[in-house]
Amino acid sequence: MPVSLIDTLHQRRQNLANLINFPAILWAGNSSPRNFPANVFPFRASSHFLYFAGLPLANAAIRMEAGKLELFIDEATPSSALWHGETPKRDEIATQIGADAAYPMTELASTIEGAATIAVQDASTWTQQTQLFNRMVLPQLPPQGIDLELAKAIVKLRLIHDEGALTELRKASAVSVAAHQAGMRAVKKCKTEAEVRAAMESVIIAHEMQTSYNSIVTVHGEVLHNEHYHHPIQVGDLLLADVGAETSTGWAGDITRTFPTSGKFSSTQRDIYDVVLAAHDACIAAMHPGVEYADIHLLACKVIAEGLVDLGILQGNPEELVEKDVHALFFPHGIGHLLGLDVHDMEDLGDLAGYEEGRDRSQRFGLGYLRLNRTLRPGMLVTIEPGFYQVPAILQSARSHYQYLINWERLQQFADVRGIRIEDDVLVTNTGTEVLTNALPTAAKEIEELVCSGEKI
Ligand code: GLY
Ligand code: MN
Ligand code: MN
Repeated sequence: MPVSLIDTLHQRRQNLANLINFPAILWAGNSSPRNFPANVFPFRASSHFLYFAGLPLANAAIRMEAGKLELFIDEATPSSALWHGETPKRDEIATQIGADAAYPMTELASTIEGAATIAVQDASTWTQQTQLFNRMVLPQLPPQGIDLELAKAIVKLRLIHDEGALTELRKASAVSVAAHQAGMRAVKKCKTEAEVRAAMESVIIAHEMQTSYNSIVTVHGEVLHNEHYHHPIQVGDLLLADVGAETSTGWAGDITRTFPTSGKFSSTQRDIYDVVLAAHDACIAAMHPGVEYADIHLLACKVIAEGLVDLGILQGNPEELVEKDVHALFFPHGIGHLLGLDVHDMEDLGDLAGYEEGRDRSQRFGLGYLRLNRTLRPGMLVTIEPGFYQVPAILQSARSHYQYLINWERLQQFADVRGIRIEDDVLVTNTGTEVLTNALPTAAKEIEELVCSGEKI
């Protein structure tokens, strides 16, 4: 039987009470105006708030102590009803989220003593937090004292997804998959990247969801977080689409596929695609509880180095090439990250969630961008996203240093491969893994078939 939202929220509050012996106050945050107060940027509640409160309330706070939750939120004003319609009353919201009591925001000030908090991203809220607590509470500052203890407790809980979270994460995965299918089916009829993006995001919007990050839909996949959509789609292009849906309560999907806009990979594109896919598959096959995520990253590096040696692009022993970080000229980022209420889950806390205590980021070029360095445990959800990119600035500056390890003439033959990434959302289970996004194919032939199937619509 599925667990109810209220049971899930009660359990999370109790779990927190088992880890800390002081009160915690979490703010939802507020929307920021674009030009006048009622014209705002889209609101997104803080993920720590969402985890315990369950609803994307704006300008609200919760105070938790010993498993009990008090909600602080103001009633909507009469003029708000004129412009925005009737909204639920404070007590109705309190019932929905299983709060033990509910008060206006002004009453929060008297409950601050001895409490811990976590900084919210929007300036109006962290200013309020700083004033009320009479200490600096800034998103850029690492938490200290009991705030740090609270942050560590929340990391411990949010690292391992409960049933309520997994139900939402599965919904986010399913809609993210549908968005990618729509993009692949649409691409042959699209003239620009923007049109493909529209086909993908329309699926997400139609499910009353939003994107969990700014979509990347580009024929310049070598620009890792490309957020421009104006390029025309031309014959022979590969299109990299990194698009994810987020459910109404904030749970994220994060998928990347790279597909030939004409419906058929060129032989060079196919060669590199299969190298990236081999790394993707090897990583997922090697994942199970007890395995180090850093070793999964190194496995991807090795498989990519082997593939590039086989293709004649790299020269030398694959393991030695990885030790010298030569693979990182083409795969400069980490193999993935935590996924949950945020894409790059809990990175508002720096590396507190991503790195096990006592571990620090490596100074090595090939390891420094690794966002997760923990032992895998059942209930963790991570992305696996190997890639291959030809970034002109990186390759140019590497030319003299790596003169004999790269066959530059051979590399030129792969000029039609700018960027390829394949990304799935992988849940660690008791016995291995479950790929939440596996309804979306990865094999080159199936990708081609999906793109070509668009012509029949
Ligand atoms: N969508 C951003 C990432 O995959 O990390
Ligand atoms: Mn990702
Ligand atoms: Mn992604």
